[in-house]
Amino acid sequence: MNPVKTDVIIGCDHAAFGLKERIKAFIIDQGIKVEDIGTFNEVSVDYTDFGIRVASAVSKKEFERGILICGTGIGMSIVANRFPGVRAALCTEIFSARMSRSHNDANILVLGGRVIGDILALEIVKTWMETPFEAGRHQKRIDKIDEINLLKFCNK
Ligand code: RB5
Repeated sequence: MNPVKTDVIIGCDHAAFGLKERIKAFIIDQGIKVEDIGTFNEVSVDYTDFGIRVASAVSKKEFERGILICGTGIGMSIVANRFPGVRAALCTEIFSARMSRSHNDANILVLGGRVIGDILALEIVKTWMETPFEAGRHQKRIDKIDEINLLKFCNK
């Protein structure tokens, strides 16, 4: 594995605690530092709280990349994509994980711990960490996403 050597911030809810621990160990094993903001056990929590912490850190550029995991990945995706500059991609297979980086420059990977198995999840993480953004024509499209917030502001 030849991943981007950047710190990653990771968070999950109770439904994905086990998978989060496995992903964390896997990333550390690649020589990448991980900031783990929890949750730290299987006691029921609100995915919202953990999604907000990871997505706000990526939005503020405190971290270049984040990983969020809940049962389906849906709640975490909805939360994360509310934050300016965040491009969170819910991936259930390798192709989307690769494309989310090369075409969308996704800066948060979202996984559903109750949807996919651990082996596939680790393969997705590996692909996502390794794949660079292609930029070029894709940069213009991403810039238009960022302009959405500005448009909303102007119309107020
Ligand atoms: C928790 O039961 C579950 O709702 C949560 O992990 C997630 O799937 C929400 O989108």
